[in-house]
Amino acid sequence: MITLGIESSCDDTAVAVIRDSREVLSERVSSQITEHQRFGGVVPEFAARMHQEAILPLIKLVMDEARAKMSEYENIDLIAVTRGPGLMGSLMVGVLTACALGSAWDVPVIGVNHIEGHIFANFISDESLAPPFLSLVVSGGHTEVLLARGWGDYVILGATRDDAAGEAFDKAAKLLGLPYPGGAVIDSLSVKGNPEAFSFPVPLKNTDEVEFSFSGLKTALLWKLKQLPQGNAKTEIINDICASYQAAIVNSLMTKLELAAKKTGIKKVAISGGVAANSALRAAIQSKAGKWDVFIPPVAHCTDNAAMIAAAGTVAWKRGVRMNTIVPDPSLKL
Ligand code: KG4
Ligand code: ZN
Repeated sequence: MITLGIESSCDDTAVAVIRDSREVLSERVSSQITEHQRFGGVVPEFAARMHQEAILPLIKLVMDEARAKMSEYENIDLIAVTRGPGLMGSLMVGVLTACALGSAWDVPVIGVNHIEGHIFANFISDESLAPPFLSLVVSGGHTEVLLARGWGDYVILGATRDDAAGEAFDKAAKLLGLPYPGGAVIDSLSVKGNPEAFSFPVPLKNTDEVEFSFSGLKTALLWKLKQLPQGNAKTEIINDICASYQAAIVNSLMTKLELAAKKTGIKKVAISGGVAANSALRAAIQSKAGKWDVFIPPVAHCTDNAAMIAAAGTVAWKRGVRMNTIVPDPSLKL
């Protein structure tokens, strides 16, 4: 079975063609980051227009690359597209394109939840991953710990009360005068810094609930920056600040994952989403490998991509999910 995946929920236009749920024949991501950087964040209207410009040439390119690996008897059997959550204008471009192609090619279309898509990055990267498992989805818009009881069957054990972990990285970068998006930049500066140089509060660390809160961290950073000497001294210690701030986020994520593992008794843990690309989080999860079965996707499948959407759509289709109409939903729940 060959599936065309389309992802356009935020600022990346992504297209992939996969075979039999997991084998990626071709995939591409067209990033809008440099265009949004000058505004310090994603501008929704602008994002939608850029998706519109990028999507058809990208589909053509990915289809051409995939065709080179497909037999003459193989064709697109299914189109999977992100239908939410995300930015309305961005989602509309992906959904309308998928529906138009589906109708022109007479191929069924299935809508996929972006969060479920992230979980399927783990499905693609490791065939041995089978439910039940704990899933930490950490991105620019989401920080959730889920219990995957089956593929397509999830219980949210806990989430953030305010900012997402990726948002905490992005807002910190803005305060530090670093480019958007901040996660990867803070990660790379942290490698050169001392995570114990500054103390940041680890939010909700001692509560007995799987819950997160990152908005206070950003305020703590603001106060720390105000106390610092200006000029050169400030630039010298920026690596230490990044490392310490990042350590507080990772500490919070790990503390609550451990709590979820304790509460459920499940020791199979998968992480996904843009923040799962973070080297400190990856190292922290990896250090648990003796105690837990850990699943970490490659970096390219942590951030938004269409292979994960194609995989989630294919598995849902095989489970019997059918959709006559696909309506984009910016607040779609899992
Ligand atoms: O999953 P994603 O591409 O888009 C959303 O669904 O939000 O995640 C983007 C988020 C951004 O907040 C970005 O700063 C963060 O992932 N991110 C990172 C790293 N790479 C991307 N955060 C921490 N460390 C990284 N290496
Ligand atoms: Zn995402």
